[in-house]
Amino acid sequence: MSKKPLFPQLNGMLYGGDYNPDQWLDRPDILAQDIEYLKKAKINCVSLGIFSWSSYEPRENEYHFEWLQQVMDNLYANGIYTILATPSGAKPAWLDKNYPDCLRVDNMGVRYHHGDRHNYCMSSQNFRNKLKNINTLLAEKFSHHPGLLMWHISNEMGGECFCPECQKKFIEYLCNKFDNDIDKLNKAWWTTFWSHKFSCFEEIEPPFANGSIDIMGLNLEWKRFTTWNMIDCMKSEIEVVKSFNPDIPVTANLMNMYNGLDYRELAKEIDVVSWDSYPRFHNDWESFEDTMREFSYSHAVFRGLKKDKPFMLMECSPSSTNWQAYNKLKRPGVLRLQALQAVGCGSDTVQYFQIRKSRGSFEQFHGAVIDHAGIDNRIFREVSEIGDILSKISSVAGTTVKAEAALLFDWDNRWAIQDMQGLCNADKKYEKTLVDFWREFNRLGAEMDVIGTSDSFDGYKIIIAPMLYILRRDVAEKLTQFVKNGGQLLATYLTGYVDENLLCHLGGFPGENLSDLFGLYSEEIDTLFPSDRNGIQFRGCDNTIEVFDYCEILKIKDAEIIGRYTDDFYKDTAAITVKCFGEGSAYYVAARTKAADLAPIFEQMLKNVGIVPNKMPPHVLYHERSGDGERYGFYYNLGENQIDIKNVKGIDLASGKEIDGELVLDKYAVAVVKF
Ligand code: GLA
Ligand code: ZN
Repeated sequence: MSKKPLFPQLNGMLYGGDYNPDQWLDRPDILAQDIEYLKKAKINCVSLGIFSWSSYEPRENEYHFEWLQQVMDNLYANGIYTILATPSGAKPAWLDKNYPDCLRVDNMGVRYHHGDRHNYCMSSQNFRNKLKNINTLLAEKFSHHPGLLMWHISNEMGGECFCPECQKKFIEYLCNKFDNDIDKLNKAWWTTFWSHKFSCFEEIEPPFANGSIDIMGLNLEWKRFTTWNMIDCMKSEIEVVKSFNPDIPVTANLMNMYNGLDYRELAKEIDVVSWDSYPRFHNDWESFEDTMREFSYSHAVFRGLKKDKPFMLMECSPSSTNWQAYNKLKRPGVLRLQALQAVGCGSDTVQYFQIRKSRGSFEQFHGAVIDHAGIDNRIFREVSEIGDILSKISSVAGTTVKAEAALLFDWDNRWAIQDMQGLCNADKKYEKTLVDFWREFNRLGAEMDVIGTSDSFDGYKIIIAPMLYILRRDVAEKLTQFVKNGGQLLATYLTGYVDENLLCHLGGFPGENLSDLFGLYSEEIDTLFPSDRNGIQFRGCDNTIEVFDYCEILKIKDAEIIGRYTDDFYKDTAAITVKCFGEGSAYYVAARTKAADLAPIFEQMLKNVGIVPNKMPPHVLYHERSGDGERYGFYYNLGENQIDIKNVKGIDLASGKEIDGELVLDKYAVAVVKF
């Protein structure tokens, strides 16, 4: 594949962050000094105007863009580009006062007061009009500015609104979805239950907390609608900025594992995926290494939203955050690991929140590139070192990460599992299970994408589908075809219970003929109390592994049993099976175990399709990017001691040194090797 850097103007990586010069307009000395600091750190782009609506339009219809013009001009004259935001992330007070329908309504039907951010009603016509007005003025003035690289639409869109306008739109959305046929909806949502049958669409309300939360189909459709409505509002913003200059790409900064929006749908409407990453490093519940590998998984999730294209690390903190329960400092070297991890996973940018610490208000103690005290400090030195490394690895820009294994993850499956009444209602741990599987493949040395069930499976040899609770017919057919053609598929407990409206499949789980693919039925599923344990004994060996949380009891048709339960009334029945189907194999793991305990199965799957994993010594994380015949290996020492990695040959781009067989990495060191 050929290299396509996201920003050809930059001749390499974008290095930047959120910058709020409008907070310092009465301090031109500081603004001038900031530019010198940015250049010193090799920062070549800043994100402006994310929360600037009240600076642009302090009173309704009174506009001030001159400060932005001046800031962008100055930056550009100094070689620093701009990502410009549309200002919908936070509304000015006059807007909410003059047009109260811009304020959201919560799930008890209570309208919010003015304040905070990320809280506009997506349906309010007044809001959309005022937003269109400010975006038009902004785009008219700046969309041909030579320093403009990209539009940043709003900020971290999310949440939901239960106002009368949103309710009305929900009903329209449902009429459209169910062909104006209320019987069709009643059937799909099984509304005869508890006398929930609707006689017309107008009777339907969103799932208010003090209303109907017991129709699973309705709850799910509300989530889908909220995604649709948010995207609809986002599209109205994109339309304005694109109408002035269609060549400027747009992005929207997404949040790690955010639950409220189906990001696969959202990603279709933007040019580049970007996300904000705030790991809880050095915490007291998992190892530093586990946190790091989990964030490689997160990068894979965002990379998977737009395949074969670099993404952007839009935000991370140069030191601590201010909003977590415990805002611990990043230890020396950790920022470098985090920044280059993003690049190794396919990002063409490293960006911070924030460039300069604000003097007052909510985020005055959030980490920043430029501290209240200035730049003579550890953080700025680390930021500058990363700037230097990024300039030396500029040729990586535009390359991508290739994976032959994929993990399936859908947002609606996640919502449905959370909402399902049964099993362990407190937490079914779908997300944790995904991370656990992904991390184990990563430890074994196999790169893995995270894709949705509607994505193409072409090019993958292994698919892991944990807890695929919602199973649509087309997905079942695609999976069957995948295995028939030689693919290795692994599914788990909770596969194929319901259809896309959350009606149970009849005739046994997994539904939609997947019981033929796996050669089994799931007859029952047992939920274990937290201290309960079962085990699985693998065929032909004494080795047993631990089982917790869930055990499905299987009825075997023609699958081969490779592991059996060790305890309880289903002792000796099948817990792990495989069925050869066509050219491939379909594995079924009926109980929850640690993914690490399934490593022999994963290794067998890799072997079956001839993937030779690139297994690293303990504590070493590895990623690889390639394009235009070039290959770059990213090696990260996540451990506390120096590590020697054998069989590495190439140029260490940061030092310029040739590596001839042995790469030595100090604690928390990173090497980018061009092979
Ligand atoms: C989010 C927001 C930023 C800032 C940071 C703080 O990611 O997008 O505006 O509030 O959090 O960590
Ligand atoms: Zn609303």
